[in-house]
Amino acid sequence: ETQTLLRGRLLDFHAAPADEMDTDAYTYIKDGAILIEAGKIKATGVYQDIAAQAPKAAVKDHRPNLLLPGFIDTHVHFPQVQVIASWGEQLLDWLNNYTFPEETRFEDPKHSTAMAGHFYDLLTSHGTTTAVSYCSVHTASVDAYFAEAEKRNMCMIGGKVMMDRNAPDTLRDTPQSSYDDSKKMIAKWHGKGRAQYAITPRFAITSTPEQMQMAQALVAEHPECFVQTHLSENHDEIAFTKELYPDAPDYLGVYEGYGLLTPKTLLGHSIHLTPREIDVLAETQAKPVFCPTSNLFLGSGLFDDGGLRARGIQNAIATDIGAGTSYSMLQTLNEGYKILQLQKQKLHPLRAFDWITRGNAEVLGLSDKIGTLAVGSDADVVVLDSHATHAMDLRMQRAGSLSEELFILQTLGDDRAVSETYVAGVAQKNGAATIVNAPAV
Ligand code: GUN
Ligand code: FE
Repeated sequence: ETQTLLRGRLLDFHAAPADEMDTDAYTYIKDGAILIEAGKIKATGVYQDIAAQAPKAAVKDHRPNLLLPGFIDTHVHFPQVQVIASWGEQLLDWLNNYTFPEETRFEDPKHSTAMAGHFYDLLTSHGTTTAVSYCSVHTASVDAYFAEAEKRNMCMIGGKVMMDRNAPDTLRDTPQSSYDDSKKMIAKWHGKGRAQYAITPRFAITSTPEQMQMAQALVAEHPECFVQTHLSENHDEIAFTKELYPDAPDYLGVYEGYGLLTPKTLLGHSIHLTPREIDVLAETQAKPVFCPTSNLFLGSGLFDDGGLRARGIQNAIATDIGAGTSYSMLQTLNEGYKILQLQKQKLHPLRAFDWITRGNAEVLGLSDKIGTLAVGSDADVVVLDSHATHAMDLRMQRAGSLSEELFILQTLGDDRAVSETYVAGVAQKNGAATIVNAPAV
């Protein structure tokens, strides 16, 4: 069996650190190594010790760069790769004017396949090795999404969007077809390679009560699958939801009423919540997902990370491309930090890096497989260069601690700071990036 040994400064998390003194929560080894065999992490530790165990391993020397678990993006829209950076609107107009027309194109398997290639190139070039995605309403987009994941041996989660109203004709399914197509996609893809399926009613506005019942049946029949939807992102969205579901106690009450809230349920945004909704999150262990760049871009509002954590509600963090404005989980932290600043909440850089790795994996219930460098984990690793840009390099001259370095990375870093990304032990970045020759405007 061939072995690969990555050498560099190793950083790995065991819990969310409060600060740099909280050394039980993380491991930092200045001359560290990760030994990889058959796509999994076989050993980690001090370079000299690991090298002695594996004299025949091919050494990839990444010094002085950092070695961390690959980043995890817990909410992203695969069919919105050409929607990112669309001007001027807030949520509902943005959906109607930009997003829905674009998603109709994913009925074409050729288009879906081409875009899947670009999507995965973008994820790995930004250091993301696992993502939880919304595909379009069309099964062609789901097939393209998971076929590409299989090709690259990536741990990817996703599902067909269920939507049967308040969208163009070409983007609507029916309660029955959404059930049948979701079933087909679960049978075809869940557990295939590293793939997992997410049952995906888009949000209350685009599903009739009849479709919500179908989603309820799917969730009951497939406890192995994730569930994902959107919650309380925007005030107009909340008002429209109340009109469509007048009998529900509140927005979350719609999903609660249809049995969609489980510990494997991911609720994108979860910004404008009532006390009752917060109680229901705490009881059901459904997981809010913070999407900072999207929330600022669409002017949606400020996610209350501190308030939710104080109630024992674990949350995840994500890009929400194409309302989000960067594929980079570093830039996602950058904007997240600022959103917390506006609420007088602090985001320590060690907790920030735990969040985008182990923390997100724990929310997904997958921290035994991804999100850490523990022995037996899949060898998904990101290599970070804190000197990647002129601005970073200059600032690094005045950095005196690991925390400062991480804060520089999350504030100034993006794909330029990702020097390599390993998926199941295989390097992705060098030579993998695709250049699109877009016509001039
Ligand atoms: N709510 C329903 N669909 C979407 C979407 O595609 N993006 C965002 N940001 N919110 C949504
Ligand atoms: Fe979203």
